[in-house]
Amino acid sequence: MKERTQLRVLVVERRPSARKFLMKALTESGYAAEAVASAAAALKACARSSFSLAIIGLRPPGMSAFDLATTMNERWPNTTILVTTPTEEQPAALACLRAGDHDYVMRPFDLKDLLAHTRRALGQEPSPPQGAVGAALNGRPNGESRAVRRVLLGAVKALSSALEAKDLYTKGHSERVSRLVGRMTKVVEIPPREARRLRLAARLHDVGKIGVPESVLSKPGPLSEDEYRQIKAHPVIGERILGPVVADSEVLSIVRHHHEHWSGRGYPDRLAGEEIPLGARILAVADAFDALTSDRPYRPRLDTQAALEVLRAGAGRQWERSLVEAVIRVVEGFSVNPPDKHGR
Ligand SMILES: [Fe+2]
Repeated sequence: MKERTQLRVLVVERRPSARKFLMKALTESGYAAEAVASAAAALKACARSSFSLAIIGLRPPGMSAFDLATTMNERWPNTTILVTTPTEEQPAALACLRAGDHDYVMRPFDLKDLLAHTRRALGQEPSPPQGAVGAALNGRPNGESRAVRRVLLGAVKALSSALEAKDLYTKGHSERVSRLVGRMTKVVEIPPREARRLRLAARLHDVGKIGVPESVLSKPGPLSEDEYRQIKAHPVIGERILGPVVADSEVLSIVRHHHEHWSGRGYPDRLAGEEIPLGARILAVADAFDALTSDRPYRPRLDTQAALEVLRAGAGRQWERSLVEAVIRVVEGFSVNPPDKHGR
């Protein structure tokens, strides 16, 4: 196996932020990387020096990614080519593409995969990426990797807020749900570490809605079967978007399962009862309370008591009964019958 420092990688990427990010990631992972912004510059760079790998991003100016890859393949057959353009078959990548159109730096979400592809394309033994970005993605904490992760997380939080802010009905929803969840974790005595994890999941739980068309999200009338199917994809899309950013699998699992029902009739996996992660069960109750007390395109908001009545009616079916009681205690501002150590 060649040493990584001997391997030269060419990045063809028109967006400066993505170019900079990929250069940093590759350099920190031990590759000698060079970046160009267009197809013409890529061909010039290959004529000047040889590259083991070329990573071609979205729509390089001057030529389609496919045509550039074909040309390079004919002229420099020793250069392995990796095209990172998402396809219809990759919903998470598609979501990233949409986000890109909104000027958010979403490419880091592809990074873990990209570095793995890079290693495979170069015939290297599978090994974890090195450097600050690699450490951040692998959950090995050091000061720098924490900083990288904070930046990525900040971008996702900004994205989630931007998504909600576009719509008066959902503005501030995740922030409010996160606060309510925080108060519930005290009532059900969730340890501080778990509580932090759950507040983070609450803050990010609907980010997958970026993969759902706006016309469906804000439709005032009843949804068709196909539209409902699109809405129901958001927890899974959210999990995929967050995968490379949030190393904590429990946070991802809470995001995935926040629409499961205690009865087993929710989605995406139709988990029932205690099969559903506790954090997702708590989030489901807080999410519902906030949704019921907010205006929606198809109905006005309910007052607190009416919303609590809806939750009571669904206790033991949609939501875990003891958690409905917990949210009632939180909302009504007093605590009776302290829960046992499992928060039930
Ligand atoms: Fe949701």
